[in-house]
Amino acid sequence: MGPVRQELREATQEIHDRLDRAALLRPLVEPTVTAEQYRTALVALHGFHAPAEARMGGQGERVALLRADLADLGLDPDRLPVADELPALEAEPARLAARYVLDGSAHGGRAMLPNITRALGFDAARGARFLASAGVDAQAQWKVLLARLEAEIATPEERALARGTAVGLFAALERWLARLERDPALYEGVPAR
Ligand code: HEM
Repeated sequence: MGPVRQELREATQEIHDRLDRAALLRPLVEPTVTAEQYRTALVALHGFHAPAEARMGGQGERVALLRADLADLGLDPDRLPVADELPALEAEPARLAARYVLDGSAHGGRAMLPNITRALGFDAARGARFLASAGVDAQAQWKVLLARLEAEIATPEERALARGTAVGLFAALERWLARLERDPALYEGVPAR
């Protein structure tokens, strides 16, 4: 593993471990997951990924998958709550670190997919496109990204910015999940399509 990836991984490990146990995400890995819990987890993840990708200047191909899943579940993706207070993503090292966090989350998604398919019947064709990264060559993109991390994040300043951004983005997700937990009306009030 390259030193830059290792640094990003170590810097974010603690929050990642906490996220695995977050009340709104944990049901994804439990065999007893209900359709409602799955729906809430997708709303939460959409509320993070959509504004983060918008800040990156695009829509993000996995956000398009999330939107399709949410529509499968009967929700209008344009009317869902989204996080604010995301870190700045203008400088190149910050953008690369953000890609590390946003694309790295696909690893977890793929690990959770079999559980969701077994429990709820959703798969890469319907309802779980995002977890499956359907139609995205995630492995090839990940390889390219890892190479860019090592090649383009060189100076101590760039490394510090990348680390700070990765941690900041994870922290923004944690804050967002906490806000949803505190105020379930944010997602319970979501109107159906
Ligand atoms: C229930 C929630 C989650 C679970 C169970 C989970 C699980 C995993 C697993 C199994 C891996 C693969 C580890 C490896 O290959 O060594 C992984 C990697 C990763 N996950 Fe998660 N994940 C979750 C949520 C997230 C979220 C929400 C994000 C970010 C928004 C995220 C970001 C990452 C990153 C960046 C990596 C790559 C680490 C690296 O190999 O450098 N994960 N996750």
